[in-house]
This record gives sequence, C-alpha cells and structure tokens, in this order.
Amino acid sequence: MGKILVTGGSGFIGSHTCVELLNSGFDVIIMDNLSNSKMAAVSRIETITGKNVTFYQTDICDYEGTTKIFRENDIDSVIHFAGLKAVGESVAKPIEYYSNNITGSLVLLRVMKENNCKKIVFSSSATVYGVDNTAPYTEDMPTSSTNPYGYTKVMIEQILRDVCTADPEFSAVALRYFNPIGAHKSGLLGEDPNGIPNNLVPYIAQVAAGKLRQLSVFGNDYNTPDGTGVRDYIHVTDLAKGHVCAIKYAADHSGFEAVNLGTGRGSSVLEVADAYERACGKEIPRKFAPRRAGDIDASFADASKAERIFGWHAEADIDEMCADSWNFTKLNPMGIN
Ligand code: NAD
Ligand code: UD1
Repeated sequence: MGKILVTGGSGFIGSHTCVELLNSGFDVIIMDNLSNSKMAAVSRIETITGKNVTFYQTDICDYEGTTKIFRENDIDSVIHFAGLKAVGESVAKPIEYYSNNITGSLVLLRVMKENNCKKIVFSSSATVYGVDNTAPYTEDMPTSSTNPYGYTKVMIEQILRDVCTADPEFSAVALRYFNPIGAHKSGLLGEDPNGIPNNLVPYIAQVAAGKLRQLSVFGNDYNTPDGTGVRDYIHVTDLAKGHVCAIKYAADHSGFEAVNLGTGRGSSVLEVADAYERACGKEIPRKFAPRRAGDIDASFADASKAERIFGWHAEADIDEMCADSWNFTKLNPMGIN
C-alpha cells in the first residue's frame, strides 16, 4: 500500500484525520506550511497512535518543494486540507484567498499528474450550498457562494470535475463538511484558533474557560423553532473517519463525487450553549445580538449518500461533542504548544 500525502495535516481536521489513517494502517506524510498550526500537533499525533509521521514544512504553492515530496516518497493518494478558511478575512483579502487556495490546489494537481498520482480527497464545505438552497442539502443541488472563501471551494470542486473528465482513471472525492466541532478523546488534539474565535463552539469554549465574558447570540428572529440559527454540528473524529472511508472509496472508483459529511440533524445556537453548560458544569452567559451578515436560518445535511456509498454515518451527539471540546479546552489552556 502506497503512502497518503496529507496537505494541511497539522491543522484541526487534518490532525484528527491523520490519527484515524494511522490507526487504520495507512502510512502518512504531512505537508503543511504551519501558517495556522504548530509542529506540536504532529508529535501529538505520534503520541496518540504510537506511530511515526514524515513531516515536510512546505507550502502547496511551492512547485519545487511539492515535487520533492513526491520524488522522495511513493505517494498513492492525497487528502487535501491545506487552505485558508476564515470567511470574513476572505472578503477583506480575496487575492490571498484565491492564490493560496486555488493556486495551491493547481500546483498540487499538476505535481500529482507529473507523478502519476490519480486519487484525491478534497476538503470542501457546506458553504457551497450558498443561500438559494433549502436544507436538508443534497449533493445534486446547484452550488454557489457569497464570499471568496466559499468560491474557492466551488471553483476547486469544478477543477476536480474537469480533471476527472480529462482523465477517466482519475478519482476525486469532495467532502462537504458541515460544522466540525469537538476534539480528540485524549484531549491532545483540538481546535486552537488564533485570536477571538469567529465560530460558535470555540467562542463558547473560551467563555467557559473564563477568557471571554459572554456569548453574543447572533439573531433570535430566524425562521427556526427557537429563533436562533440552526447548524449541523459534527464531531471532528466522526469527520476524520469519513476521510478513511473516502480514501478507500477512491482506491477502487474513478470519477468525481461530492459527498456531504454531516449528522443530518440541526442544533440551534441556544441548544449548543445549553449542551456546553451541561458539559462544563458552568453557566454560559449569553445575550441576544443582531444577526451576523451573511448568516442563514438553517443548514443541515442530507447524510444518506455517505451512508450509501461509504457505509459511514456520524456517531457522536451534541453532548459528546461539547464534552470533548471542554476536555480539550481544560487540558490545553495555552492551546497546542
Ligand atoms: P486549519 O487551519 O486548522 O488547517 C488547515 C491547515 O492548512 C493549517 O495547518 C495550515 O497551516 C495549512 N495551510 C494553509 N495554507 C497552506 C499552504 N499554502 N501550504 C501548506 N499548508 C497550508 O483548518 P481546518 O479547520 O482543519 O480545515 C481544513 C480544511 O477543511 C480547510 O480546507 C477548510 O477550508 C476546510 N473546512 C473547514 C471547516 C471548519 O469548520 N473547520 C468547514 C468546512 C471546510
Ligand atoms: C461557518 C463559516 C462557513 C463554514 C461553516 C462550517 C463563517 C461566517 N461561516 O459558518 O463558511 O462552512 O462555519 O464550519 O464563519 N453564532 C453566534 N455567536 C457567535 C458565533 C456564531 O450566535 O459568537 C451563531 C451563528 O450566527 C450561526 C451559528 O452560531 O447561527 C454557527 O456559527 P459558526 O460556528 O460561525 O458556523 P457557520 O455560521 O455555519
């Protein structure tokens, strides 16, 4: 069995996926420029699994550096996480987002082609469902976006479709993640955002840790049962296991597939805050605030395709996700260092 190259493998979802790949017997090579992660995550992957990982501090936009990795290793397939991911920042810095995410993916695909590597699993996002579709989202719905980050996902999916059309042996699986939260059960890996978190659960975690005073609930007049936004939160370990299924699927199928990775169930902001209170045993003070620009009422997956083609479904419920997030937050007051 050849090796799997994991771009962005020291990041939040990548590190959890490397653990599941190693536990399933795959050899893993990580390439990451460490722009949003630390080397310590790589040692923690090795601690959890008791296995070694080859690490390259290389940027996916660096053609020579990426080529060197393929020359030095027998790479069978790629899982491509590397990219910038903050929606608000992408609106302010579109050129940086398009060049990092699109150019980086093109360099990677070019090097894959030159080295006869024909299997890729790509980190897409539920953001490609845009604002014109209604949940539950199915993979055949039209894709669009409202911001440069989301457009990079829409465009890279299209590039992958075109690569598959040009080469009938090529296999590309675009995994559309819903809202990954939680942390590894060991408490060694989790989400470690820089600065004040934009996303709900990392923000609540810092309120629970006493670093932030209270949660602002963005909007209470949405068309949802309690008026607050509904999202499909998925445990990052369930998501990671979905990648192992996708890499096995890509091994004996060709062509392009988009696959939702979600639980198929939505939770409101208030339900998540209540679950976090149960997990940490503290009150999460909250106040209602205006809607956040660009937010939608409800986003959740139709998760049946992943069950059908991978035999995969998410296991953890929102209480378990919050308990694991709190465990990681408590054990790592300074993040992953
Ligand atoms: P993350 O920032 O923790 O991980 C991304 C990793 O990529 C980081 O370690 C970063 O250092 C690295 N990276 C960025 N640009 C690079 C480059 N040019 N060359 C090499 N390495 C580079 O983010 P994450 O939450 O683990 O997300 C992983 C992927 O999943 C991203 O593509 C993201 O867009 C996508 N995604 C994330 C979410 C989410 O909510 N976290 C949702 C949907 C999709
Ligand atoms: C975010 C990303 C989206 C990505 C998705 C999946 C943004 C703007 N969008 O969206 O591109 O695909 O994650 O990971 O970052 N909320 C509060 N208070 C807060 C933070 C959030 O009430 O302090 C609410 C939001 O209004 C929303 C819910 O919590 O209803 C979840 O927010 P968030 O975690 O940012 O995820 P998404 O909005 O789904």
